[in-house]
Amino acid sequence: MARSIAIDGPAGAGKSTIAKRVAKELGFIYVDTGAMYRALALYMIREGIASDDIDNVVSACKRADVTIKHENNEQVVYLNGDNVNGLIRTEEVGKMTSAISVNAAVREKLVGLQKKLAEVTDVVMDGRDIGAVVLPNADLKIYLTASSRVRAERRYKELVAKNVECNLEEIEKDIIDRDYRDMHRELSPLKQADDAVFFDSSDMTIDEVKDKIIELYKGV
Ligand code: DC
Repeated sequence: MARSIAIDGPAGAGKSTIAKRVAKELGFIYVDTGAMYRALALYMIREGIASDDIDNVVSACKRADVTIKHENNEQVVYLNGDNVNGLIRTEEVGKMTSAISVNAAVREKLVGLQKKLAEVTDVVMDGRDIGAVVLPNADLKIYLTASSRVRAERRYKELVAKNVECNLEEIEKDIIDRDYRDMHRELSPLKQADDAVFFDSSDMTIDEVKDKIIELYKGV
């Protein structure tokens, strides 16, 4: 049976960086499920579908083919055959993603793909509902968070490094709003699974968290 580690938590807590390092050290594949939701959101934007237009969101789910592949140790997301890795990290796509991820058809489609992937491959999978819904029998479940201020500062630095004009207060407000939406939606809200180990990365380095996770995994 394939082995798995589930990492859930809000945006900006360091999940993807940590999950990638854990996967590399253990020789597992890293699966960024947020990227799959983002690819589907990009499809809705391209098709001009509003996130609250339920009928069209549901039918778009049937037309959109989201596939992930691993090339040179990087996850590549394909939308109807095109590599969309470079197009899914914008604020516009982020907002649409959070809005459509409340939809049952969206979740059903992507959760199915994620479960299938984990059946045959050793994975470190990150997202919001991995421990609770996608991999309820994961070998190890982690819930990783950090304060909204620390997460906003991390995002601010990333954007400044890319010469994107931005405002720390606004970024923090967006983070708080998105957390609220992700935690209060009816379907698969973001919450710590009962059997998940809690980490707050506000005052920990990436490698401190990574080492703890590896230690926990080896102890299970
Ligand atoms: O991790 P991320 O920031 O790329 O995720 C983008 C959005 O997708 C986020 O608002 C919540 C949603 N998402 C989800 O609902 N379930 C997942 N497993 C992963 C992401």
